[in-house]
Amino acid sequence: MNSEAEARRRIEDLRDRIRHHNYRYHALDAPEVSDAEYDALFRELTALEAAHPELRTPDSPTQRVGFPPLDKFLPFEHSVPMLSLENAMNEAEILELDGRVRKLLGLSGEVSYVAEPKMDGLAVELLYREGTLIRAGTRGDGYWGEDVTPNVKTIRAIPWRLVQPGDGPPVPTFLAVRGEVYMDKGDFSALNERREEAGEPVFANPRNAAAGSIRQLDSRITAARPLKAFFYGVGSVEGVAFETQWELLGRLRAWGLPVNPKSRLCSGIGEAVEIFRSLASERHRLPYETDGLVIKVNSLQWQRVLGEKSRSPRWAIACKFSPEKAQTRIADILVQVGRTGVLTPVAVLEPVTVGGVVVQRATLHNEDEIQRKDIRIGDTVVVQRAGDVIPEVVEVLADRRGGLEAPFTMPEACPSCGGEVIRPEGESARRCVNRQCPDQVKAAIAHFTSRDGLDIEGLGRKIVALLIQKGLVRSAADLYRLRIEDLEPLPGLGAKSAANLVASIAASRHARLSDLISALGIQHVGSHLAQVLADHFGSLDGLRQATREELEAVSGVGGEVAASITQYFSDEANRQLVDELLKLGVRPAHAAAAPVAVDDFWSGKTVVFTGTLEVMTRQQAGKAVSALGARLTGSVSRATDVVVAGRDAGSKLDKARALGIRVMNEEEFLRRVGPA
Ligand code: IVH
Repeated sequence: MNSEAEARRRIEDLRDRIRHHNYRYHALDAPEVSDAEYDALFRELTALEAAHPELRTPDSPTQRVGFPPLDKFLPFEHSVPMLSLENAMNEAEILELDGRVRKLLGLSGEVSYVAEPKMDGLAVELLYREGTLIRAGTRGDGYWGEDVTPNVKTIRAIPWRLVQPGDGPPVPTFLAVRGEVYMDKGDFSALNERREEAGEPVFANPRNAAAGSIRQLDSRITAARPLKAFFYGVGSVEGVAFETQWELLGRLRAWGLPVNPKSRLCSGIGEAVEIFRSLASERHRLPYETDGLVIKVNSLQWQRVLGEKSRSPRWAIACKFSPEKAQTRIADILVQVGRTGVLTPVAVLEPVTVGGVVVQRATLHNEDEIQRKDIRIGDTVVVQRAGDVIPEVVEVLADRRGGLEAPFTMPEACPSCGGEVIRPEGESARRCVNRQCPDQVKAAIAHFTSRDGLDIEGLGRKIVALLIQKGLVRSAADLYRLRIEDLEPLPGLGAKSAANLVASIAASRHARLSDLISALGIQHVGSHLAQVLADHFGSLDGLRQATREELEAVSGVGGEVAASITQYFSDEANRQLVDELLKLGVRPAHAAAAPVAVDDFWSGKTVVFTGTLEVMTRQQAGKAVSALGARLTGSVSRATDVVVAGRDAGSKLDKARALGIRVMNEEEFLRRVGPA
């Protein structure tokens, strides 16, 4: 990455993508990429931000744990943030953790660790007062989750009252306990079989099934799902103190909270590495899915000394297992045309089971990837499925070639419309430029109605394809012209479904503005940015009239995004679509985003920065709070309202404490300047 401008563009692009995937994974429980692909994006962003500290911002996904909750549950605040874990991808990185820990603590001997299987489910926090379960929430973005108390109460593995053991200290007066709700693999398959028989969509994996079951508005549905839970940590606790993680696990278990029996106390990092190896080899035989091993410093005192970075603790690491792989043959390579015209090559595979799922297609991403890996039709390849969705080809076994394998070249014309295909400079994708291209139109309308758009019930890809094929729909606007009598004769619909469909389309006229913006499918504008734009502009007209400068002034909108938005609205066909939608009565309602930790806290406050900030420069931090209405001064006095203290803060911090002035550390500061 040579120029700063280039780095900035890449960083913005990565952030947008990661936010999008965060939303798919955390908020919708519907990931689009494998964990490995997501981790690769995240690592690239972390590395770029490390190389360009001046480009760091508090709203970067590297500073965040996940995504704010949907607005359908009551918010659940975590009094102690639920952090995420940094990943180790191999054994060397486990040893690096130990090296860092010993260096920071100034120790030469072995450090004791606790190793716990990393459960692949949904993180929750339960609150017990005087031993009684009073509330439960999801992790959400780490600060705010969703209140899922009635649902959690249906899980049999979760006690409504803590057990008071005969010996040992009394149950705590207050306990916020954290763990993972999950579904066993066998229960998951049986559930999917039942759903398939009932004609309901199946879950992609046990994690999604667990998350989808907890995030139900009707807790009777949750109750019918075979959920389980393991607990591994605490937030705030009153009335009991623990000295080690191992002791904590023992207590939780004694109080009746399930703790994974595979958790182990290790006298040094070598033992932890051994446990990692043995768990990796036995994990397929375990009844539940685990995607790694969590290694934590055992002493809680040392954990406190080591502290946290903004997103993850310095005293723990998640060592991920390598993704599941299998060998098969590429029978053919197809080219799909997406809604923005991008041509994506897809390998048609001889069916093969990877991690318990039959895989028949794998994405080849783009022609550069095909060339780099020298993938040919007929090749024997290694495919990888990292837990979720789209599998990919990771390696070609060139020594298995017989000589008949055929190199693949991307088509010069669009496989859908036969029109012109271009490859813009600096991009690895080829695009079909014909906006009327049938596959593009189909994908665009399917996106419009999908969960990333207006979420119109009953209007999935298949129906959209049918409507286009029958000539009933040529654009998203045509959906609002459909009548029951148009739909009734379609195969598989009938009077009732036709009426329901027309009703759901009609209801979508009053969708949220952010959903409509996202539904338009503007390049680079995913659900997250759509929410930001809706909050800023308040109406579709406001957005469409915004100039590039006005767009770039919005926090989180970079040059590339701004250009893409103005370009979208300068296109005649898009302008016509928006006009038509408005004419057909589409009147999106604007609702503010789910609660984020930004308020008018800073307005009118006098603020002093001291010490070294890790994420932002002091100048950037100063700019951020000035923009929110604060006044900056250099010295602490009685007139100071807030002192933000970074690392190695000295006399100013002492003075602030002496004067009883509000002091916040960098993490709290970042949270306060949001938005996410
Ligand atoms: S400790 C500050 N222990 O992994 C420490 N997390 O990236 C935070 N998870 O969604 C978590 N098993 O729910 C911890 N034994 C375990 C875990 C575990 C699964 C999940 C956790 C969170 C993610 C952390």
